[in-house]
Amino acid sequence: MLKFKSLALIIMVFMACGTPELDNKSKSNSDSKKEIKMDYTDHHSFAKPAEAVVKHLDWKAKVDFEKKVISALATYSIENLKGVDTIHLDSRNLIIKEVRRDDKEGALGFKIENTNSFLGSKLSIPISKETKTISIDYETTEGADALQFLDPVQTAGKKHPFLFTQSQAILARTWLPSQDGPGVRFTYDAEVTVPKGMLALMSATNPTSKNESGVYTFKMEQAIPSYLFALAVGNIEYQSLGDVAGVYAEPELLEASAYEFANMQDMVDTAESLYGDYRWGKYDVIVLPPSFPFGGMENPRLTFATPTIIAGDRSLTALIAHELAHSWSGNLVTNANWEDIWLNEGFTVYFENRIMEEIYGKDFANMLAILSFQDLNDEINRMKSEDRMEDTRLKVNLKGRNPDDGLTAIPYDKGYFLLRLIEETVGRENWDAFLNEYFNEYAFQVMTTEVFLNVIDEKLLSKDSSWANTIKINEWVYEGGLPANCPKVTSTKFEIVDEELLAFKEGSLDLETEGWVTQQWMYFIRELPKELSKEQMKGLDQNFGFTESGNSEIKSAWFEKVIPNNYAYADEAVQEFLVNVGRRKFLVPIYKSILESNAGIERAKAIYEIARPNYHAVSTETLDKMLDYKKR
Ligand code: BES
Ligand code: ZN
Repeated sequence: MLKFKSLALIIMVFMACGTPELDNKSKSNSDSKKEIKMDYTDHHSFAKPAEAVVKHLDWKAKVDFEKKVISALATYSIENLKGVDTIHLDSRNLIIKEVRRDDKEGALGFKIENTNSFLGSKLSIPISKETKTISIDYETTEGADALQFLDPVQTAGKKHPFLFTQSQAILARTWLPSQDGPGVRFTYDAEVTVPKGMLALMSATNPTSKNESGVYTFKMEQAIPSYLFALAVGNIEYQSLGDVAGVYAEPELLEASAYEFANMQDMVDTAESLYGDYRWGKYDVIVLPPSFPFGGMENPRLTFATPTIIAGDRSLTALIAHELAHSWSGNLVTNANWEDIWLNEGFTVYFENRIMEEIYGKDFANMLAILSFQDLNDEINRMKSEDRMEDTRLKVNLKGRNPDDGLTAIPYDKGYFLLRLIEETVGRENWDAFLNEYFNEYAFQVMTTEVFLNVIDEKLLSKDSSWANTIKINEWVYEGGLPANCPKVTSTKFEIVDEELLAFKEGSLDLETEGWVTQQWMYFIRELPKELSKEQMKGLDQNFGFTESGNSEIKSAWFEKVIPNNYAYADEAVQEFLVNVGRRKFLVPIYKSILESNAGIERAKAIYEIARPNYHAVSTETLDKMLDYKKR
């Protein structure tokens, strides 16, 4: 039987009626204070941080590209809070070679309990009341799902191998024994040795150029949860983009990347003007090879990004705004466990939209909001058809399930629309003041859905009794489906597209599309009729060049029309895209439509056979199940 930790922290929230700010604790008197318990269970970690907790990590590692292995000595400074005799860590598919205590000679007995599941193993290490540090000498294995070692042919330069990690949600334990839940924060120092000619980067202070020795040192002074522990190694170069902003990429991609992200410094400044100081020093982005399974990952100080947002026209940079926004929502105030992920992602989609509105204007931000609404609607319909309506609640139940199951459009887009509704109800000024204080008050702490509901009640909604009735926040959080009071968004830019869609449906291909931006094209393609004739498909393609588009969002939206309508001309392009791109958000819907098409399962499997070696484990985990793939 698995034993799960139960963590109870007491957070004091003070109410002083009539005061608009979150109050300073020392000023409050006991009559007006109310205790809110930060009480939660992390179903996805074996650690018991309330008993003994890791505070700092000293990581000495060597990356071996030949064996595709990282070997490391991890030394943890711990605090034995309850004077217990054991500290528990999470680990999965690791070879633990030796464990020592306070760096004394002689190996220590330790215990590994395997579960054979995505949770991995409980690693239990004996400690005493006086123990200051424990050290673990270990090695990763082929089963390190966080890691992807790429061969030179899988990179832009084709000459050097590449390695990147993806720790969120619970993959850090596959390359670092750790208390692998979002509720445990630690600082770290690292020294990483890589082959000569390669640069190593982490979610920490980073070098900006290669050195002769191949040994790089890192420091992360702000405490982070393990899911933000990250490493990338490759033939990587750097270009500064402003005071704190910069970009890393393979040299072949560096110029295009710097062009694409030219306004990154502006984004950082804008974000700070909205919700307070950027607390992480530098904000850099690394553009990874195309197998990166996500669009972006908010590793502190160094966002990891897919090259599929390098469109050449800066049209897909909302993704950077999103990852940057996580520097507040997520990295500063962190979901206490994966069931609260809407506190990370929903807030971030909202914050992303506000950054985009500041820089590109309301009409642009509204286009993003409408696309987000479409994603939300599609997701709810999909869940309905799969009999999973309980997964359309903002607070999901992930007990006994992989946290990946909760990674749907719900935390993102339903979360976004709830926050938009709150803004529209209480007014932007009140809402922004609340958010500023929220990020400040809970910086470097965890947040649960329940505590958030209490905080917003006391600090914001209590100011006007009509607000809570208008918003009905509990319905959004604890009930499925789309609440009736979901904000309606309109966009003049999309109204223009609607007119042309009408003309198209009436048989015209002579459409007025001059000056359309990527989001208008995305909307246009999504809103095309489900069934299109060969002539219509050909006509669209000849006029607008979708199949050959250099824009991954336009291309993938188009492919979802290509496949069900058997537009054979694009077959090759579909296959090429699936083989070269590993971003799960694109892969899943395209494979799904192939499975549902005439060519069906055989074609999907044939392509997968070729493409699979290019994918990261995050993507193969999902696709293996979808395509019933048996590992050989
Ligand atoms: N933190 C997420 C990615 C993630 C979430 C990985 C949960 C593993 C578990 C990241 O910030 C994200 O949301 N990426 C999106 C970006 C998009 C919404 C702009 C993606 O990859 O598509
Ligand atoms: Zn995100």
